[in-house]
Amino acid sequence: MKARIEELRLSFKAALAECKSGAELEEIRIAYLGKKGHIAELMKGLRDVADKKEAGQLINGLKTEIEAAIAEADEQFKRAAIEAQVRSAKKYNPTLVTERELGSYHPITLATREVCDVFLGMGFTVENFDEIVDDYQCFEALNIPKHHPARDMQDTYYLDNGQLLKTHTSAAQNSIMKKYGAPLRAIFPGRCFRNESTDACHENTFFQMEGMMIDENISISNLIYFMKTMLSEVFQRDVKVRLRPGFFPFVEPGFELDINCAICGGEGCPSCKNSGWLELCPCGMIHPRVLEEGGIDTEKYTGFAFGLGLTRLAMMKYGVKDIRDFNSGSLKSLSQFKSI
Ligand code: DAH
Repeated sequence: MKARIEELRLSFKAALAECKSGAELEEIRIAYLGKKGHIAELMKGLRDVADKKEAGQLINGLKTEIEAAIAEADEQFKRAAIEAQVRSAKKYNPTLVTERELGSYHPITLATREVCDVFLGMGFTVENFDEIVDDYQCFEALNIPKHHPARDMQDTYYLDNGQLLKTHTSAAQNSIMKKYGAPLRAIFPGRCFRNESTDACHENTFFQMEGMMIDENISISNLIYFMKTMLSEVFQRDVKVRLRPGFFPFVEPGFELDINCAICGGEGCPSCKNSGWLELCPCGMIHPRVLEEGGIDTEKYTGFAFGLGLTRLAMMKYGVKDIRDFNSGSLKSLSQFKSI
């Protein structure tokens, strides 16, 4: 038995020395340590040995030796494989120029820039304004006192300190009048918020672009001229519009300016609530009380204001049927516009 054990030890060493790969090592492992391997055979042979204890210890010693040697060889093969992988990997090349996939602008950004360009060309300045405002800016300064029914239409999200997320870009009117005084031509695009349930044409977060022009002798004709010019430039065609009386506490008279729904061509669809028309740009002559609150001399100056629904405009311009797509974050629908 002892001689047989010694013989196996030598043959194992020889096999291991010849072994060149992990797969070969596995074969050796099965040949020696497997269920029907040499060690198992030796164990079976114990039956016929007189000193079973000594022989058993010798066999176990050999088994442990083989296990350790195989584990060590296995480790070496694995390390060599990793090193080979690292060696064959591509080297970093700082001068290599690769094609990069470019992002794209959000359709609201595109529409905003386009409208801004049109107004910049007509001598308006573009103002940036806060999203968090106070009650005075959003309502009081716009002739909407506390408990005025107009507030019902504009429920929003309130902060613990009493400030609120602005419900309309009109919230900037007062600060901008105080900042520049008259005469004044300014537009101010911005994100607005309302506590509203959503559907194909309503969102709780949307964009508007407010505009104000204050000067001597400003009248409704100026207002209509600027609105029509802007819309035909943006849509690159003569746009059908209709003007209806509309009530807003901060203008007098006030109007609703509607455009023919570009999605259904005026036949009626969910985007225009089946009316064929889309409220796009409420507007009017700035109420004297609002001008006074902004420090403007109402004896000398008048002005018009409008609140263009930028999100609606983007829907019409790009044929987006559901307003909720804009805030969906879905690259599939949002990245189909011009790349940067
Ligand atoms: N701020 C109004 C709203 O969001 C829209 C509006 C109406 C703005 C008339 C104006 C205006 O400047 O003149 O409902």
